[in-house]
Amino acid sequence: MTSEYLWWRDGAIYQIYPRSFQDSNGDGVGDLNGIRQRLDYLESLGIDAIWLSPIYPSPMYDFGYDISDYENVDPVFGTLDDFDALVAEAHARGIRIVLDMVFNHTSHLHPWFLESRSGRDNPKRDWYLWRDPGPDGGPPNNWESTFGGKGWEYDPATGQYYYHQFLKEQPDLNWRNPDVRARVLDVLRFWLARGVDGFRFDVVMSFFKDELFRDNPPALKSPVGLLRAFDRQQHLYDRDRPEMTDVLAEIRALLDEAPGRSSVGEVDDMDMAVRYAGSGRLHMAFNFDFLGTRWLPRLFMESIRNYDEGIAPDAWPCYVLGNHDRDRLASRFGAGPFSDARAKVAAALLLTQRGTPFVYYGDELGMVNTALSRDEILDPPGKLYWPLYQGRDPERTPMQWTDEPYAGFSVSPPWLRVNPDHTRRNVVAQETDPSSVLNTYRALLRLRRQSEALRHGTVRFLIKRPVEGLAYLRETPGQSRLVALNFFGWAIDLKLDGALPANRWKVVFSTATTDVPRIMGNRMRLQPFEAVILEPA
Ligand code: NOJ
Repeated sequence: MTSEYLWWRDGAIYQIYPRSFQDSNGDGVGDLNGIRQRLDYLESLGIDAIWLSPIYPSPMYDFGYDISDYENVDPVFGTLDDFDALVAEAHARGIRIVLDMVFNHTSHLHPWFLESRSGRDNPKRDWYLWRDPGPDGGPPNNWESTFGGKGWEYDPATGQYYYHQFLKEQPDLNWRNPDVRARVLDVLRFWLARGVDGFRFDVVMSFFKDELFRDNPPALKSPVGLLRAFDRQQHLYDRDRPEMTDVLAEIRALLDEAPGRSSVGEVDDMDMAVRYAGSGRLHMAFNFDFLGTRWLPRLFMESIRNYDEGIAPDAWPCYVLGNHDRDRLASRFGAGPFSDARAKVAAALLLTQRGTPFVYYGDELGMVNTALSRDEILDPPGKLYWPLYQGRDPERTPMQWTDEPYAGFSVSPPWLRVNPDHTRRNVVAQETDPSSVLNTYRALLRLRRQSEALRHGTVRFLIKRPVEGLAYLRETPGQSRLVALNFFGWAIDLKLDGALPANRWKVVFSTATTDVPRIMGNRMRLQPFEAVILEPA
């Protein structure tokens, strides 16, 4: 462990969904110049890097995750010059830039696919996954699309099917083709040369598919009632193939050509989160476990322990409490009168882990899902599965800056409706309230930055079977911090099973009042929904 401060290891990374952060030109869609206008805010928040969901030219079937040109900016977001200006201004404030790279698939309107589709003899035919129909004339195998329906689309002009893990407007690239691989590395070089500091790789575990295109077996448990046929299979052959190892090494070698760069891969589960990160692989792979963890201390402890014990010493952990694909954390853990109180405890949980925290825009305000009607839904899986699943628009609505009609996000009606609670939940209102969710994030991010124990100390849980709250120590050889979290709305007494390394402690952070006695022998008293951090006195 180096003591040097590394932005991606010691810092926090803030995810911006560019369509929804700040609109600078009044078209109702956020853009790069909007982000530039909000750099003061980002600096005051205390994050170290921003990850931008895709900004490239796209027909927007999947709102940018369907790219039609990897080396440009979509006009709705601005220009390459705007991008260069954003990089320069962010860097001047010590904020790094992470770009979202989608290489499992392109848009069906990408020139590569247009060529590939134009004929069986086209030199780019093999850049995508084309197969003859199965014996019955149907799809070549049983692979399903993540977004619903079959994973294969028939192309009458050439008499073959192409595979798409997501929408049929998102054909999968053929990673076995060396030209595809070489071209992808060129794309990375293009952005690195523009000063980008790191990449987030979309569904990195899906790049390779089984060479023999074997059928996936059915899922072991019979998950009756699950919406998608995709969930009723074991994904043995359409993802997480061994061939990925070489590609990870190739990408890592490219990134390692200059210091200070990083990468994070999107993967499906904890097992892959452990396997895809480390030396010769990516710097980090998303650990999404918290996204599915219920609001119970024991479950969070088990999740942290599993991961912490499983991850290789040469890999660096990371934690995610929200993103553009999942319900807002404040809604998941229970919207209503205590949603802010819980959001603050969740913030303390996230920002005191050994691992890089990823913060989704607006979570620092405690933003909740926006209830949208069927005709307001734009996300394709939401349209398909409504009302059982409403898609991902509810967690993608505009950032709430002010109480104005469009929340200070835009002067025009935004692409997705602003949450009506913006009249009270907004940055301006929270700036002046010392106990707001926003100021809680700021204080925690500041503490994390100042404390090596919080950044990379070991984690030791102090309660064997936690029921109401968690207590853990973060320790480096020279420093310790004690973190305790009350998950519920009543005062609790935590009984500590482990010994503390000091007898006297002083509170350095609390979401409640700081001047009450806390540690009596092996007992620790916490106020309702209190998150507290202490250091030896
Ligand atoms: C994962 C991304 O996070 C999601 O938003 C997107 O729809 C799919 N990959 C397809 O690119």
